[in-house]
Amino acid sequence: MSFTAPIQLPGLTLDPQWYRRSVFYEVMVRSFVDSNGDGAGDLQGLIGKLDYLQWLGIDALWLPPFYNSPLKDGGYDVSDFRSILPEFGTLDEFKDLVTKAHERNMRIVIDYPLNHTSDQHDWFQQSRSDPTGPFGDYYVWRDNDEEYANIRIIFVDTEESNWTFDSVRRQFFFHRFFSHQPDLNFENAGVREAVFDTVRYWMDLGVDGIRLDAIPYLFESEAGNGEGEPETHDFIKELREMVDRNYPGRILIAEANQWPREVAAFFGTDEEPECHMAFDFPVMPRIFYALRSQHAGELISVLSETLDIPKGAGWGVFLRNHDELTLEMVSEEYRQAMYGWYAYDPRMRSNIGIRRRLAPLLDNSRAELELVHALLFSLPGSPFLYYGDEIGMGDNIWLPDRDSSRTPMQWTPDRNAGFSTADPGKLFLPVVQSLVYHYNLINVESQLAQSRSLLHWVRNVIHVRKAHPTFGLGEITVLPTSHESVLAFVRSYAGSGTQFGDSPENVLCVFSFAHNPVSATIDLADFAGSSTWDLFGGAEFPTVSEEGVLTVTLGTQSFYWLHLGTPSGVGGRP
Ligand code: GLC
Ligand code: CA
Repeated sequence: MSFTAPIQLPGLTLDPQWYRRSVFYEVMVRSFVDSNGDGAGDLQGLIGKLDYLQWLGIDALWLPPFYNSPLKDGGYDVSDFRSILPEFGTLDEFKDLVTKAHERNMRIVIDYPLNHTSDQHDWFQQSRSDPTGPFGDYYVWRDNDEEYANIRIIFVDTEESNWTFDSVRRQFFFHRFFSHQPDLNFENAGVREAVFDTVRYWMDLGVDGIRLDAIPYLFESEAGNGEGEPETHDFIKELREMVDRNYPGRILIAEANQWPREVAAFFGTDEEPECHMAFDFPVMPRIFYALRSQHAGELISVLSETLDIPKGAGWGVFLRNHDELTLEMVSEEYRQAMYGWYAYDPRMRSNIGIRRRLAPLLDNSRAELELVHALLFSLPGSPFLYYGDEIGMGDNIWLPDRDSSRTPMQWTPDRNAGFSTADPGKLFLPVVQSLVYHYNLINVESQLAQSRSLLHWVRNVIHVRKAHPTFGLGEITVLPTSHESVLAFVRSYAGSGTQFGDSPENVLCVFSFAHNPVSATIDLADFAGSSTWDLFGGAEFPTVSEEGVLTVTLGTQSFYWLHLGTPSGVGGRP
């Protein structure tokens, strides 16, 4: 099977399923650290913070695009896929980042917006001026704007159509996103080959994985809706085959904002795999829904729906990222409820979603922040943190579009939050100075100095997770409980076939979304008579009854992770 192929990457542990046990961290280079005082973050700045990320327990970084770009869509509008934006640094500095990350046993996943380019890309410039030339067919050109009427518009705040008229070529070109981001024409063999070449180029430079941006949208058809067309899946299968053959151990991650079954399709099948990982878009909004509705039901049903994925495939679980908290794939009723709870000010909305950071969404409630992180770190899949959320950074809804939650990382209470020595007016975006989230209060330095800070709490939960392979590799069984606000599941790992030897492990995870303390019974028929103990402090908890029932009391919005040991003490507390 492809995911057990040997790996030959210097400096990294030889775990072919590393991605299933990794904690990922999304870091926007521009927002993290400015090393040369020009007001924007850069690769050198990031290199200087690898020790911090290692201390936190991060195993892999996801870097949004850092390529040459006019930066009209945060770098997702690429004008050259092979060079680094000069303000971020050089290719040599990128190689240095890869080397220094690998020395720390940390992987680098890059982001590849393969569906489209910037209109400044040379391919587009040639395509519009020379229709019969080598790049004439690289984009989706038509004489009118009538085709693909079934294909929805994604950036509804800015775009009225997926077609834009080009005054040079005097034809319309197709775009799923901004009108300055023409879609590449995947029907063209040259485009497909160029994508393969780009993947090889970055994998040859040592990257460990690629996030396939906007992956559902590669092919369009009149019959379908342009999301996950059969040709798109065929293309990803071929790409996966090439990666497995030439770069075993490297991964592909699908960014597919779709309904559960459609997202799972991007894993492919055991026989014909596609992506190693896919972001868990179905689960994400339902976590936020559970918090305010105080009902676990929606989460329970979506967890049951997305279970069946190929062996070796893994979800990428996340709470927030650099985009809006998307509400596209939920019902209208549900969406209105979410807007009411989380985006009561119209400036908090963007397209069909909410452009706020995690801590402000949760109104800076420590109980809620701990509860959602406990879910993030115990649901099936690998957790993806968004930079700054480990200290509960705030946002700035007065900035345009998704810049609201891309502001500079807050390191210290000093000038520019320690992000940059530039004149504050020169920063690419201002640092947050709001009443609650001002960088004087919310910064890494002050949280390092407080043993009970969110930062120390997040670091601890990461390390507890990493000490228990069942969280990354285990199965999930959702359990019936007596209370509508309580979610309970067991993560079970048979313990064979990995470097962890043969010790099976079962961990019971219980979460209460209720806004008051509750008591609940959990149906643990398969674990009748088992002892239980808390993974954090080791304290013994009540034994599961002979009838297979465990009664728990939970404080407001709280959780437990309990080890389940056999009655005889085997697998019990060490
Ligand atoms: C993806 C990115 C988003 C970008 C879009 C267009 O959805 O996450 O930031 O705007 O693709 O490239
Ligand atoms: Ca800089």
